[in-house]
Amino acid sequence: MVYQRYVLIGFMGAGKTSVGQALSQRLDFNFVDLDQLILEQSSVNSIGEIFTNLGEERFRELETEAANSLVDAEEIIIATCGGAISRRETMMALINSPEVCVIFLKTGFNTSKARLLGDNSRPLFADEDSARKLWEKRQAVYQGWATRTVDTDELSIAQVVAAILREAADEA
Ligand code: S3P
Repeated sequence: MVYQRYVLIGFMGAGKTSVGQALSQRLDFNFVDLDQLILEQSSVNSIGEIFTNLGEERFRELETEAANSLVDAEEIIIATCGGAISRRETMMALINSPEVCVIFLKTGFNTSKARLLGDNSRPLFADEDSARKLWEKRQAVYQGWATRTVDTDELSIAQVVAAILREAADEA
């Protein structure tokens, strides 16, 4: 199968941005990071600022708006925000393409935690217990949207990219 659009979903720390950038170089596709797009479209400096000043609900609306602005884009890799799966309309906008592949980059909670050590940019990872509960609650939802799942715990970025490309080639 030749995909025109790859949508990377998964929890914070799954590697969506790093894998997305590397995959876009391999395929010569455009790359968009949804968090970054939200910041650009709302002229705000950080996601934390949106959560603090406007609240999570408004952030989710901005996430939907950002996803909607990409509906016509082809030859694109989209690294979603970890919570893009919170709203069906966000996901529907992201997968609105006949040749879309949704990749769930799966990570154990402890892997996410280790990868985000010392990174204070994620409001929903500020408290470990609630982050763990969120991780548990979301696993089945990520799985439900996924065309493919790659377990990233033991893999480098390059290995994850190779796994994604291998699976797409196997389907051809
Ligand atoms: C969030 C994930 C973050 C960011 C925001 C909320 C979430 O993005 O959008 O802090 O709800 O999981 P990353 O998944 O890129 O860290």
